[in-house]
Amino acid sequence: MELKINGLTKEFKDFRAVDHVSCSMERGVYGLLGVNGAGKTTLMRMICTLLRPTEGTITWDGQDIFKMDAAYRKILGYLPQDFGFYPDFTVQDYMMYISSIKGLRPAVAKKRTEVLLDRVGLKRVKKRKMRALSGGMQRRVGVAQAMLNDPKILILDEPTAGLDPNERIRFRNLISELSEDRLVLLSTHIVSDVEFIAGDILLMKDGKFFMNGTADEIISEMDQAVWSCTVPRKEADRYLSRYLVSNVKTVPGGVELRILAERCPVEGAVMEEAALEDAFLLYFGEKAGEHHDGEI
Ligand SMILES: Nc1ncnc2c1ncn2[C@@H]1O[C@H](COP(=O)(O)OP(=O)(O)OP(=O)(O)O)[C@@H](O)[C@H]1O
Ligand SMILES: [Mg+2]
Repeated sequence: MELKINGLTKEFKDFRAVDHVSCSMERGVYGLLGVNGAGKTTLMRMICTLLRPTEGTITWDGQDIFKMDAAYRKILGYLPQDFGFYPDFTVQDYMMYISSIKGLRPAVAKKRTEVLLDRVGLKRVKKRKMRALSGGMQRRVGVAQAMLNDPKILILDEPTAGLDPNERIRFRNLISELSEDRLVLLSTHIVSDVEFIAGDILLMKDGKFFMNGTADEIISEMDQAVWSCTVPRKEADRYLSRYLVSNVKTVPGGVELRILAERCPVEGAVMEEAALEDAFLLYFGEKAGEHHDGEI
């Protein structure tokens, strides 16, 4: 079970969205983390054979996925970022409809639908129309439809977008459960989504992987330490303009800052254990989830 990407590149006219990306993935959860426009969706669409690479190869157990064609799509499940559904379909009808597109026999489709809706916690709402579901429920239907063919490779593009914190936690648990005996690749710009469930994290920026590894490995590569200190409110701006600040909290007597700096930024600052959020800020120059929907 090995998905191998080698020198993968995608150019749109004169713009290179994915730039010589290489990696090897096996069983387990991989988190593709990057800000808007990093190239995550373009990369995933190539892995799903929906987009032809300009250069480079993708192989599954040594075979070119584009040559495998239908045999590859049989073992592939995909939740697109812009997951579209038919609002007037009931959940069950929608699942049956996707099953027929995927070529499942009706009896098999019915059984798989039952099992999967139970697994994603939607059995009780299977007769409800898609439009009447919450955003989190709709996303879970999205995952369930991607699982209909019991895929070996499950590609989820921003599966947690728009979920509230509770739904997000449930979702993480679901992904962990589903990752047994398959390869799951999920993209997100929300650090906490991958921090706890992805064994391996691929940091993507400007079409390139510039770092990958476990959360601990990525954190240990940081060349800045993390400090916490409380400063008077009127001085806070000075620190915000001078340092990367990963958190700001108003406290009695001033403002508590979490600062990334090589050396102690102010007398009395305490060195803290670095987290993946801090690494994200350091490498991307912006806070995780910022400028998007405020979800952290
Ligand atoms: N069909 C296309 N034609 C031209 N440019 C494209 C096309 N698809 C994507 N791009 C560009 O490629 C870059 C990467 O886009 P992509 O959608 O892969 O990023 P992303 O990491 O998925 O971003 P997001 O977090 O916003 O979903 C962007 O600058 C985008 O404008
Ligand atoms: Mg995208």
